[in-house]
Amino acid sequence: MVTETRFSAIAISDLVHQYNGVAQPAVNHLNLSIPKGAFYGLLGPNGAGKTTTISIICGILKPTSGNVSILGKDWKTDATAIKKSIGFVPQEIALYDTMTATENFNFFGQMLGLDRKSIAKKADELMEAFGLSEHRGKQLQNYSGGMKRRVNLMVALLHGPEILILDEPTVGIDVHSRHMINTYLKELNTNGMTIVYTSHQLDETEKLCDQVCIIDNGKLLIEGSTAELISDGHSLHHHFIELTGKQLRD
Ligand SMILES: Nc1ncnc2c1ncn2[C@@H]1O[C@H](COP(=O)(O)OP(=O)(O)OP(=O)(O)O)[C@@H](O)[C@H]1O
Ligand SMILES: [Mg+2]
Repeated sequence: MVTETRFSAIAISDLVHQYNGVAQPAVNHLNLSIPKGAFYGLLGPNGAGKTTTISIICGILKPTSGNVSILGKDWKTDATAIKKSIGFVPQEIALYDTMTATENFNFFGQMLGLDRKSIAKKADELMEAFGLSEHRGKQLQNYSGGMKRRVNLMVALLHGPEILILDEPTVGIDVHSRHMINTYLKELNTNGMTIVYTSHQLDETEKLCDQVCIIDNGKLLIEGSTAELISDGHSLHHHFIELTGKQLRD
């Protein structure tokens, strides 16, 4: 049963996900409570279950059992409302390489139910904020990795979601793009957006996230305030190793 919905942006209770033909559940009786307005880091080694959990939150995968409540709503009964309230930035860049940025915005914006005029207005604002205005007419195959990552994020912001969920948004990009994305995310969060973020960059996470959880083998190891966790003088990296061990993952 999901109990804590009033102050939670996302409440996950007793969540299980088992992929077909795989003995070990990818998510194994997981409970998480992501407060409204948090900058929340969902952390864990490779294969911990982060993407699976995020995919369930975003309605891409159905859970085997358990509950997920998003702003007090359930995918089974309130899918349309949930789609409006969340923006999702996937781990793999999900854009059309042979289309321009503008064409990508139109395509994805219309899928989100937006009209062309509001897409154009929001796209202008985002292209300006992300320093891409002069590149709007170029096909994405001519963009650098960092530029594509920025567009991947912009697409998730087109409909003005209340919650933004990002699966490794800064992987494989240079220092400048990383800095720009992180600064922008911080600003969105300061202006009230709940942000859920996965990353293997623990130094970056320690600075950005006010709440974190660490999961492994689909199970919760720890959840709470970042400041409290590191109040013993040890870094997030230190606690991560302590909790998950030193064994290499597949
Ligand atoms: N489509 C699938 N079919 C079968 N098993 C899968 C599938 N996707 C993921 N898994 C398995 O589920 C477990 C959790 O994977 P998941 O992708 O959620 O981890 P992750 O924490 O996102 O890892 P990473 O840091 O590498 O992105 C892993 O053991 C993975 O091999
Ligand atoms: Mg993943």
